[in-house]
Amino acid sequence: MKITAGLAPMAGFSNIPFRLLCHSLGADYAVTEMISAAAVCFNNEKTLTLSEISSREGPCALQLFGHDAETVSNAIHILLGRTCEEESVRPAAVEINMGCPVKKIVSSGDGSALMKSPELAGRIVKFARDATSVYKIPLWVKIRAGWDKNSINAPYFAALMADQGAERITVHGRTRELMYAPSSDNAVIQAVRKAVPDSIEVFGNGDICSAADAVKMIDQTECDGVLVGRAALGDPWIFSELKALGDGREYAYPSVDERVDAAIELTRAIVERNGENYGIRMARGRAAHFIKGIRGSANVRDMLNHASSFDEFESILRRLAR
Ligand SMILES: Cc1cc2nc3c(=O)[nH]c(=O)nc-3n(C[C@H](O)[C@H](O)[C@H](O)COP(=O)(O)O)c2cc1C
Repeated sequence: MKITAGLAPMAGFSNIPFRLLCHSLGADYAVTEMISAAAVCFNNEKTLTLSEISSREGPCALQLFGHDAETVSNAIHILLGRTCEEESVRPAAVEINMGCPVKKIVSSGDGSALMKSPELAGRIVKFARDATSVYKIPLWVKIRAGWDKNSINAPYFAALMADQGAERITVHGRTRELMYAPSSDNAVIQAVRKAVPDSIEVFGNGDICSAADAVKMIDQTECDGVLVGRAALGDPWIFSELKALGDGREYAYPSVDERVDAAIELTRAIVERNGENYGIRMARGRAAHFIKGIRGSANVRDMLNHASSFDEFESILRRLAR
C-alpha cells in the first residue's frame, strides 16, 4: 500500500535542516513553519527567512496565517513574486493555517479562530486562491475538527473552503479546545472526505506514530494521504518505514549509531544556518528528541544543555554510540 506522507508544519521545528532530513528519509512533502501574512507585508526580516525553501529540498508548501483577506493576498504576491523568480525554490503550494490553537494566535482571530467564522475564512481562501492562481501554485487549507465539542463543523467548513478554491484540505482530528490531547478522531476526517468533491484532496492528521497508524487512518477515513507531526520529531525514520511498507520491503528501526549520527548531522546543519551560538541553543531540544530512550540519554541531555560549541556537542553525543 503506497501512502503519501508529509511532514507537518511545526513552529520552531519544521525549518530547512529538519525538512531536508525528513525529505532524505522519504517524506513526500513538507510544510514550512507558520508565517504571519501581516509580518510578510511589513517586510519583517525574520519572517522572510522562515519562508525560505532550499533548492535541495523536496516539495515544500509555504504556510501562512492571517485573518484579513487582503493582507493574506498581498503576502502571497510578495512571497511568490519573489520565489518564482527562481524555479528551484517554488513552493509546492500555499497553505492557509486555520488550525493553530495557541492563545496568542486565536486571540487575534487567526488560526483555528477562523473555524468560528466560516464566511471570513471563505473570503480569505477566495482571495488567496486568486493570488496563487497567478503563479499556478495550488492552495491548501489546514483545519481542525472545529472550535470545541459543541461546534464540530469540519465537514461543512471544508466543503465551503473547497467551494472557494482550496485544492487540498488537511484535517487534524481534534477541536481547538482539545489542543493536542486526548486522541485525534478519525471519524471527523472521514466525514470531511465525504463532504468535499473527489477532486479535492483530503489529508488526515493526528497521532500517526507508525506506518500501522497511517494505514489505519487511511482505511478508516479514505483520506488521500497523511501528515505526520510530533512523532517525526524523534523518529523522522517514520517516513522510511512508510516507504518500505509501500515497496513491500522489511523495515529495520535505526540503530543507536544511526540515531546519534542523525542528531549530529541535524545539529551541524542548524549551526551552519544559524551560527554556532544560536544554532547550538536551537539544536539542544532537537537532538534530545532523537536520543530519547537510549540508555544514558538523560545524562547526555543534561550535558548538551551546557555545551557551547559544535565540537563539544558532537563529542557528548558520540558517548551514546556503541
Ligand atoms: C511544536 C508544534 C508546533 C506546531 N506548529 C504548527 C504550525 O506552525 N502550523 C500548523 O498548521 N500546525 C502546527 N502544529 C500542529 C501540527 O502540524 C499537527 O497538526 C499536530 O501536531 C497534530 O499532529 P501529530 O499528532 O502528528 O503531532 C504544531 C504542533 C506542534 C507540536
